Amino acid sequence: MELRFFPINIFRETPQVTFFDAGIGISNGSDVVIHSGEAISPPDDLKEEQYYVHNHQIDHNLVITGERKFVLINPSWDEPHHVIFLNRSMGALEIPIGTYHRSISGKEGSIVLNQPKRDKLFDPAKEFIPQKLDKINLVNARKSPPVYWIYEKNKIKRVNFNPLERKVKTHV
Ligand SMILES: [Fe+2]
Repeated sequence: MELRFFPINIFRETPQVTFFDAGIGISNGSDVVIHSGEAISPPDDLKEEQYYVHNHQIDHNLVITGERKFVLINPSWDEPHHVIFLNRSMGALEIPIGTYHRSISGKEGSIVLNQPKRDKLFDPAKEFIPQKLDKINLVNARKSPPVYWIYEKNKIKRVNFNPLERKVKTHV
């Protein structure tokens, strides 16, 4: 499964000034999610992981400051489990409809701009209800070895080991 990243258009970048166009043509929403310090969206419930899943919007998540780890679960994909260490340089991560997702910040926190594409049936009362992985295909997808996405040498790379762990895991 190849994930899509929408690049930003940088107009000016100096040590003190960063100025860029974050626009996504197909988007009709503009949501900001600020994590002040360590935070998870949506938060865990009694230590159980919770996820968002949308029926009427495609997300495009761009990190404005900091770094945010996104976890994507979608049993219909050939690779159903992805972990993305998202930063601004990677552009906006697209999250297709029907994909369970959550995001986690480190101690420094992070600010994310989501520019979704919403359809006419979008209802905020229904679209943002945290969900547990309560079906066997979701649980199995979560257990499957993730594909990791990182930013290295000015490029988005996908790797099959956790870059934060010292030992390189090999998956059979
Ligand atoms: Fe979302």
